[in-house]
Amino acid sequence: MAPTEKTIILITGANSGIGFELAAQLLSNASNHVLLGSRSVEKGEAAVKELQSRNLPGTVELIQLDVASEDSIFAAAKEVESKHSRLDALVNNAAVAGSSGSFAQRLNECFRTNATGPAVMVEAFAPLLEKSASTPRIVNVTSGGGSIAMRLDPNGPGKNIKNVQYRASKSALNMVMACQAVEYGPRGWKVFAFCPGYTASNLSASNKVELGAQPTSEGAAPIVDILDGKRDGEHGGYLHAKGQYAW
Ligand SMILES: NC(=O)c1ccc[n+]([C@@H]2O[C@H](COP(=O)([O-])OP(=O)(O)OC[C@H]3O[C@@H](n4cnc5c(N)ncnc54)[C@H](OP(=O)(O)O)[C@@H]3O)[C@@H](O)[C@H]2O)c1
Repeated sequence: MAPTEKTIILITGANSGIGFELAAQLLSNASNHVLLGSRSVEKGEAAVKELQSRNLPGTVELIQLDVASEDSIFAAAKEVESKHSRLDALVNNAAVAGSSGSFAQRLNECFRTNATGPAVMVEAFAPLLEKSASTPRIVNVTSGGGSIAMRLDPNGPGKNIKNVQYRASKSALNMVMACQAVEYGPRGWKVFAFCPGYTASNLSASNKVELGAQPTSEGAAPIVDILDGKRDGEHGGYLHAKGQYAW
């Protein structure tokens, strides 16, 4: 199947963790063409090589993309336009926990990558999503840590997440998602915030199976369902695997 007939899905930060596993799961479907976003060409090439070695039926292609750089985002959009002329789905997955530097530096890093990045990604890729022949979908990978309601509940889930910069940037991402949902919903697009739950990855030293984190396969699988349209009725929602969070 030529890439032009396939569903073209771009995942940011897909060289690692949940994004990489999502790419692998999507590639089990021959009708998917995954644009594997990676800020590092070296890591991205290794990820593509690993996926291709699995002989999965879908196809994958590296796209160098640093979501903290406006220039990199617009250059990537230009590349996708020249190669594919359209995009069917965007997964804003890349994020950082912001664990080094002063408090102000950690806040700025988290906001730039986790909230500004996804907002500018949609600004840059909206003209290509508009050209999709199917229902364009945007999944913003957020965290329950961004829920203001849960933060104010002293016994709520995630009460031990002390990382202000990460929490606040994900709250900001939730608002970015709400604005995208209101702007693009009337055109028939489906837009979501989705929290994968506590998952093993490279996000922080505590994202380990031995510390109780679920495997990446479980973190990524619900995103496949969202991209397959199974949760279109929850457009504009703050989704987790089994329902929705309070804002
Ligand atoms: N794991 C969890 O428990 C958990 C829970 C809730 C939400 N989430 C969310 O799930 C998503 C995936 O995270 P993960 O847990 O899979 O962590 P991860 O393994 O650290 O993956 C994050 C990815 O984002 C990339 N990235 C960071 N900054 C970037 C930038 N400026 N431009 C492009 N890519 C960048 C990383 O690239 P490098 O390899 O170059 O650093 C990496 O590929 C994130 O949005 C995270 O907030 C995770």
